[in-house]
Parts: sequence; structure tokens; C-alpha cells
Amino acid sequence: MPDPVREFWAHLSPDRLDRAVTGLGRKPALVRAAALAAPLLARDTATAADFGCGTGQLSLHAGTPRILGVERAAVLAVRAATRMDHVAIAELRQLSFPAEAFDVGFLLFVLDDYPDKGPIVSEALRTLKPGSTLVLAAYSPRDQHMGYLGSNAPVRPQPGTLRVWLEDIPGLRRLLRQHGCCVTHGERISSGYRVNANEFAERVARRQGVCLGVARDLVRDAGITDWVRREFLVLSGVKR
Ligand SMILES: C[S@@+](CC[C@H](N)C(=O)[O-])C[C@H]1O[C@@H](n2cnc3c(N)ncnc32)[C@H](O)[C@@H]1O
Repeated sequence: MPDPVREFWAHLSPDRLDRAVTGLGRKPALVRAAALAAPLLARDTATAADFGCGTGQLSLHAGTPRILGVERAAVLAVRAATRMDHVAIAELRQLSFPAEAFDVGFLLFVLDDYPDKGPIVSEALRTLKPGSTLVLAAYSPRDQHMGYLGSNAPVRPQPGTLRVWLEDIPGLRRLLRQHGCCVTHGERISSGYRVNANEFAERVARRQGVCLGVARDLVRDAGITDWVRREFLVLSGVKR
């Protein structure tokens, strides 16, 4: 069966994913996610896994390569391997790691691609020890970039672009609780990036398959003139 999420990431260049972090305002969320786990990562004996590690940006911001990257897209895993000591190519919904293997787990900007987030959360939590920490980052439903380009769109996304399925903090908290993880911290992180409103509208028109006039109206109504406001959610919880 075709899997649009797999297809999308399998064909994304590592440079483009790196730019999404450094050029499109996502970096503060990764820095915060790393900081929430810093005391645990500092322990020599702690084992950590970054589920859906992409290009391994977390390791750069955590300042340590001692995190196991888990990634399905080979081209991204190759870049991650330059930043992390070990990277495993794996499907997150069916991991071969034993139960209760890790002290810290990260799920950063992975769940947003899935309407049904349960299988990924439950499989990640299966591999965490009781009492260990899960750090989760996601796009806020108020994130303008994902809203217009992602898209959780007012209009339809085009083939080759990803539909995103965004939850706010209460929904994510509920989801983690259902899978045996008690959220102890949840926050919103804001940032942004500079744009030219006309160019942004052209991208919106292409991504959402609407005419330029409609896209310009959407962009103007969203208050986007020269700045796209980003909002991320970062949560951490303890596995029961
Ligand atoms: C938005 S990127 C986030 C990358 C990284 N966590 C970051 O924050 O920079 C989502 C990543 O999750 C991976 N991914 C999505 N679904 C996956 C699955 N079912 N199994 C393994 N990896 C998956 C994608 O290949 C992609 O690298």
C-alpha cells in the first residue's frame, strides 16, 4: 500500500531538513527538548534514543553524539550518522529493540504526520524503562508555517506534500497518558522567520492548489507581511 509519509521523507534531501531547523525557526524547540533531558544525558550510563531522528539535529543541540538515532529514511540516516554514534534504520511502529531498554526517549516532530499517533507512541514507550523520560515536540495548531505550507490547511494539500494532523497540549497530554506516560511539563515555544509575503503566497498557492489571489487573501488574513510566526509544543513525561 502506498505510504505518503514514507515517500515524502525518503525523497527529502538532508540539506532541506537541516534548513527546516536552522532557517525556518525550529531550532529553539530542539534546544529546549535537549535541555529538558540534559541532566539525564549527562549521566555516563544513561541510554537515549531519538525516534525519527532525521539528520540528527538533536545531537548537535544536546552537545552529545551518545544518542541512538532511529530513522526510516536511509538518506537522512546517513547524515545523522555523522552526528550520532549509532543510527538504526527502523520503522517506528515496529521496533526490534527489547522492552525497557532506554532511560530517555525523544519523539521530535514525528507524530504530526500521523492522524493515528497511538502506534508510534506506544512502541516508543515500550522500549523505555519505567520511570524514564519521554520528550516530545510537535507543531502547534497555531504554527503559521505548517498551517499554510504543511498543511493542516484551510484548503487541500497537493500530491508530494504532507498533510499534518496537529494536536494542542491537552490532546498530546491525553495521548501520552493513554499509553502509560504521565506528562510533567508542557510549554509553547515561539519563534519565526523572515519572508516576502508575495513569495510566501506563491508557495501557498502551489502547496494548497489554489489560485494566487486566494493564496494572497489567506496570507493577508493571517497577518503575514514579512514574518511567519512559528509555535511549537514541547512536553516531557515520565513512563509509569
Ligand atoms: C519532521 S522530521 C523530524 C526529524 C528530527 N526529529 C528533527 O526534529 O529534526 C520527521 C522524521 O521522522 C521520520 N519518520 C516518520 N515516520 C517514521 C516511521 N514510521 N518510522 C521511522 N521514521 C519515521 C522521517 O523519516 C523524518 O526523518
